[in-house]
Amino acid sequence: MKFFIDTANLDQIREAQALGILDGVTTNPSLMAKEGITGRDNIINHYREICSIVDGDVSAEVIATDFEGMIKEGEELAALDPQIVVKLPMIGDGVKACKYFADKGVKINMTLVFSPGQALLAAKAGATYVSPFIGRLDDVSTDGLGLISEIRLIFDNYGYETEILAASVRHTMHIIDCAKIGADVMTGPLSAISGLLKHPLTDIGLAKFLEDHKKGN
Ligand code: E4P
Repeated sequence: MKFFIDTANLDQIREAQALGILDGVTTNPSLMAKEGITGRDNIINHYREICSIVDGDVSAEVIATDFEGMIKEGEELAALDPQIVVKLPMIGDGVKACKYFADKGVKINMTLVFSPGQALLAAKAGATYVSPFIGRLDDVSTDGLGLISEIRLIFDNYGYETEILAASVRHTMHIIDCAKIGADVMTGPLSAISGLLKHPLTDIGLAKFLEDHKKGN
């Protein structure tokens, strides 16, 4: 399972990279704004900086919502660095743009996916990644993890190579459940990733080992 961090915060990206388990980064316009990154040039520079920190795929989202605009913006983003994956919204023009870029070998992440039908369309259009937002579904009393299972079944039925990128992961159990279902990738905050590390018995056990070692010396 690939681990992506879902943030535009460079310190958190560095921290996850230093752990040695990071496979990539996802960002979105809200995450950029949260870090105070505004204006085209600053946003472009920020993507470059993220690419210099991590080795894997870095999703960069277009702002345009029409086909021509998405192509123009997507081409600019893709030209920034070979690590860039163009992130397109799951709307009609987004699907058209996905097909256009997939035919040219540009990696696409279809975002804001909330149904199995949307995921199927993204796979048919050649998306590299499809991003179902599990946390946001949970927020409206809908089974986010159930959507991951449905998409897994559909993709396996037909051998689609599009990777299921479980997005809007909010906590550690989301990661474990996505891994059980067989999501190819998860993207979440540093807190959810670090949460995997924690177990009180590890801390108690280590303290005891060190105490016993001291006694024996
Ligand atoms: C995915 O790529 C999105 O950036 C993200 O996972 C959205 O998550 P949120 O629902 O926590 O904003």
